[in-house]
Amino acid sequence: MSRVAYVNGSYRPMADACVNIEDRGYQFADGVYEVIAVHGGGLIDEEGHLARLGRSLAELQITPPMSTGALRLVMRRVARRNHVENGMIYLQITRGVAPRNHAFPEHSISSCVITAKRLPAPDPEHMSKGVSVIIVPDIRWRRRDIKSISLLPNCLAKQQAADAGAYEAWMVDEDGLITEGAASNAWIVTGDGELVTREADFAILNGITRLAVIRLAAEEGISFSERPFSREEALAAREAFISASTSLIKPVIVIDGKPVAEGRAGPICRKLIAAYGAHMAGQRAARS
Ligand code: PDD
Repeated sequence: MSRVAYVNGSYRPMADACVNIEDRGYQFADGVYEVIAVHGGGLIDEEGHLARLGRSLAELQITPPMSTGALRLVMRRVARRNHVENGMIYLQITRGVAPRNHAFPEHSISSCVITAKRLPAPDPEHMSKGVSVIIVPDIRWRRRDIKSISLLPNCLAKQQAADAGAYEAWMVDEDGLITEGAASNAWIVTGDGELVTREADFAILNGITRLAVIRLAAEEGISFSERPFSREEALAAREAFISASTSLIKPVIVIDGKPVAEGRAGPICRKLIAAYGAHMAGQRAARS
């Protein structure tokens, strides 16, 4: 079955889906994106993703290409046309096409591309399999709260992880504190059983999965603190994990080649994986 993409108003086979070479997304990475998990045919935490998209666009003064209602409709059509029951939606909006010049063009029409990909349904046993991370310097700009398509430092970090046989790279700031993963938020559970993730300021992307985990942790009565943590604290942690719309929740069992505690998924992470599974199933039930 060939995949179909939405590109600026039309649905096209992937092979014919293309954008203008003077699109500012192509020339300057002048655009934003969202990745939304699809589960049971529905979009997970769609409201949160659309709110963050609106914020990213506003911060960069990019005009939304269509109303939120129309965007919802197109995302559903792309998921349906690609027979995505489980998987993800990728949505990218750029400032549009203009002769190359750094300053914004006076008139441009925002470009919008939406694709969908099928993936196996998430399975808690598989999700509980641990991954390893390495720690690398965070060389990104200072507005990481904007979900910009400018991802070169993230790609370099992820490649460093791949070269080291690791799944993810945790990035560390000038003060020796971990910001987040190359494509995920970073979490630990301290020796005292406190769940910790960095506060969402300009230093990290405020993950939609992160927000769901914070809510679920409160419902589960897990003690939680929003603060930065160091590499040393991560190495001494009782548990560690990552969260993202793609990875969902994944235990981190090795950091820089050293096992985290016993080197397997811990009880708090398992509890949150189960709660997140129920959260996704709940959204499906609410739709039907
Ligand atoms: N990335 N931090 C960074 C740097 C990310 O790229 C992502 C997600 C997250 C988690 O955000 P969310 O929970 O909303 O997915 C945190 C997506 C999945 C990607 O680039 O593919």
